[in-house]
Amino acid sequence: MKIYQGGILQPIPGQAIYITCNLRRAIELERAIEVLQNFDTDNIVIGIGQSFLDRFDRSIPGLKTMPEFASSHIKLTSTPSDLWIWLRSDDRGDLYHHSRRVINRLSPAFEITGSVEAFRYAEGRDLTGYEDGTENPDGEAAVKAAICSSEDLAVNGSSFVAVQRWQHDLDTFDTFPAEKQDYMIGRRRSDNEELDDAPASAHVKRTAQESFDPQAFLLRRSMPWSQELRAGLMFVAFGKSFNAFEAQINRMLGNEDDVIDALFQFSRVLSGAYYWCPPVSQGQLNLSAIGHKPEL
Ligand code: HEM
Repeated sequence: MKIYQGGILQPIPGQAIYITCNLRRAIELERAIEVLQNFDTDNIVIGIGQSFLDRFDRSIPGLKTMPEFASSHIKLTSTPSDLWIWLRSDDRGDLYHHSRRVINRLSPAFEITGSVEAFRYAEGRDLTGYEDGTENPDGEAAVKAAICSSEDLAVNGSSFVAVQRWQHDLDTFDTFPAEKQDYMIGRRRSDNEELDDAPASAHVKRTAQESFDPQAFLLRRSMPWSQELRAGLMFVAFGKSFNAFEAQINRMLGNEDDVIDALFQFSRVLSGAYYWCPPVSQGQLNLSAIGHKPEL
């Protein structure tokens, strides 16, 4: 029996919508929980923010508000919300109808604060043309990296997700010669080969998961987004805690050795937040970790 939200482990879909919501004023916890319990957890991944828990004086060990990560040159915004929803489909029309139904069901307890549409590019590339996800852990290793294992059944099977919306300046990126672009990423776009002689600022040198102590494995499920002429990557990384993400983002910012990730030369963070993705029991979200406090 599956104890985690199925969409976390599945490959990225062809189409997606990310929705952020806040609790309505004066809504009761029982009502919010009732609304969240009606979802099919294969086509939708749901995350709960710290501000949701604060409202009802609850906590989940390991969940917190995303800090405003910064170095001397760069500051990354943190834009928390109460609820995050990743709707997944391979058909644009089905996705639209699904999102309409989900929003209607959420509406008694939540108001929508934002939505972003995303898509798979070719076999899973970022809009710069580079394959994204190559070094993701797979199979059992993916479960180990992304899913919490605990004797407490209320958190066993849950996951922590870091979400960051990056906007690329692709006109600037296009001005760099192809070889420089490869060295910025640390892989060759044409055949995805890793470049051993890439500089320390190359993105895959910054984030090489085995190079951290302890090793910092993440399950990345990012997807490109575009809106009118703006575009970029919705970076989405699941972990059994936020530790691996924090080690990586700090190194990308140069906080370890003053070397800043080359990605910052053409991309910037528009929004970012942390969420806890509850476990699943019999196909429904298991929200017992935030349910009623037992009577004393
Ligand atoms: C503009 C945003 C980003 C873009 C376009 C991007 C793109 C890429 C690409 C093309 C790769 C190489 C292929 C692969 O292994 O997936 C990669 C690897 C990776 N990225 Fe990113 N990435 C972005 C942001 C981030 C952030 C914010 C983090 C974590 C804080 C991150 C963590 C990683 C990790 C862990 C790897 C694999 C490194 C390894 O073990 O070899 N990325 N990324």
